[in-house]
Amino acid sequence: MDNREQWGSRAGFLFAAIGSAIGLGNIWRFPAVAYANGGGAFFIPYLIALLTAGIPLLILEFTMGHKYRGSAPLTLARISKRGEWLGWWQVLVSFFISTYYPIIIAWAVSYTIFSFNLSWGSNTEAFFQKDYAQFALVHPGQIGGMAWKVVIPLVVVWIVVFAILFKGVQKGIERANKICIPLLVVLFTIIVIRAVTLPGAAEGLDAFFKPDWGKIASGSVWVAAYGQIFFSLSIAFGIMVAYASYLPRKTDITNNAFITGLSNSGFELLAGIGVFAALGFMAHSAGVSINDIAQGGPNLVFVVLPKIINTLPAFQSAFAVLFFLSIVFAGLTSLISIVEAYVSAVQDKFNISRAKAVGWGGGIAAVLSVLYATKGGLYFLDNIDHFVNAYGVALAGLVEVILVAWVFRKLGELQKHANGISDMRLGAWWTVCLSVITPIVLGYMMIDSIRTDFKAPYSGYSGSFLALGVAIAVLSIVLGWIIAGLKWKRTLEEQKEVS
Ligand code: PHE
Repeated sequence: MDNREQWGSRAGFLFAAIGSAIGLGNIWRFPAVAYANGGGAFFIPYLIALLTAGIPLLILEFTMGHKYRGSAPLTLARISKRGEWLGWWQVLVSFFISTYYPIIIAWAVSYTIFSFNLSWGSNTEAFFQKDYAQFALVHPGQIGGMAWKVVIPLVVVWIVVFAILFKGVQKGIERANKICIPLLVVLFTIIVIRAVTLPGAAEGLDAFFKPDWGKIASGSVWVAAYGQIFFSLSIAFGIMVAYASYLPRKTDITNNAFITGLSNSGFELLAGIGVFAALGFMAHSAGVSINDIAQGGPNLVFVVLPKIINTLPAFQSAFAVLFFLSIVFAGLTSLISIVEAYVSAVQDKFNISRAKAVGWGGGIAAVLSVLYATKGGLYFLDNIDHFVNAYGVALAGLVEVILVAWVFRKLGELQKHANGISDMRLGAWWTVCLSVITPIVLGYMMIDSIRTDFKAPYSGYSGSFLALGVAIAVLSIVLGWIIAGLKWKRTLEEQKEVS
């Protein structure tokens, strides 16, 4: 008998997968990446990346989770005992991300409250950097004591995450996503409509969409496109495998992957339009060029956008609340998925209850997350995020396709499994993308990242500080090996019988 938890409906699974995919990557990363890499012309590499890597990998991860009915480590262990460590590596990457991702959501929670009286004032930069997160008061690598204003919302974020995860797949994760994702789309659409009707919006959109065709010949633009797709679709983190393991036997895998991939890209486009329309308004009213203000990351969300909100003709507070709530919903649904990736893995391996797995896994992550709620927290976050993303994800994705396609030679079987339950049939397109195109692109991405990192230290940080980021990236591999070596609480064989 299979007593694995299940989604209550197909829509529930889709909302959860889309909720994982839609996150800060869509709002603060995509618009800036597209703008810096050819504007309108970026859509070509981006779409090619989506169709040759994003959706094929999503189909692969959905199929793996569905066929082997396990978190990433259990699924890989069922494919071959020699593959289990990769699963642990991926969920450990998720674990480390889950120590800093909640900080950003905590910032957004605070800013939602600040929105009511626009308490960031007119100097939004000084407010964010000195009064609130306080990182401008210390040097990179220094801790500098707690940033207390961040600690309280951080605790709130963790309480919400615990409450949702304790309730389980259907009553917790599914329900939360079914509420948050439609709300997010509605709130965000209202903001985008406001943004595109502001004076100057057209110039902003013009700058965003203007194609710079010369750029697509450059390798770095392609690396950016594939990198964006990977991060944005939450691929190679063990997340989508875990989510698919809760699917009922009868479902349409391929269709689910297309819906998830296209919804995520649709939201990305919406965010690009909203952000650049707002930047156009700012450029127009302040008489500056878009190029000087176009950026992504925390600065866009917590410095530039509050400044824009200050100058809205009416309803500033209302739009501010809508905007920061959107960030909270987008982030929260992604955070839930990252934590679930390792909660499900721990549950599978050690045969413990969900409550215990959430308590231990989430508990340790929550304690570690306090390190980033210090004055120097943002620098730690930036440093570790760089290495975890550039190497953890691209490399884990590369190893995943090499192992599954070439070492264990499982693509044929997985293709058959997906085709057996999906309307759309996977053909040569799928196998060629996964066994040839994705490994080449990911391999190239790795070399490119290494080259850039050796050319100049990331963000100009000191070598000893950067060593911390490298150490965490390496630690996730080493720990992965170690945990894979531990015994299964219920042996794998017994597990096979029960499922
Ligand atoms: N896909 C999410 C985004 O676009 C981020 C994310 C990264 C979620 C890693 C889970 C794991 O922001």
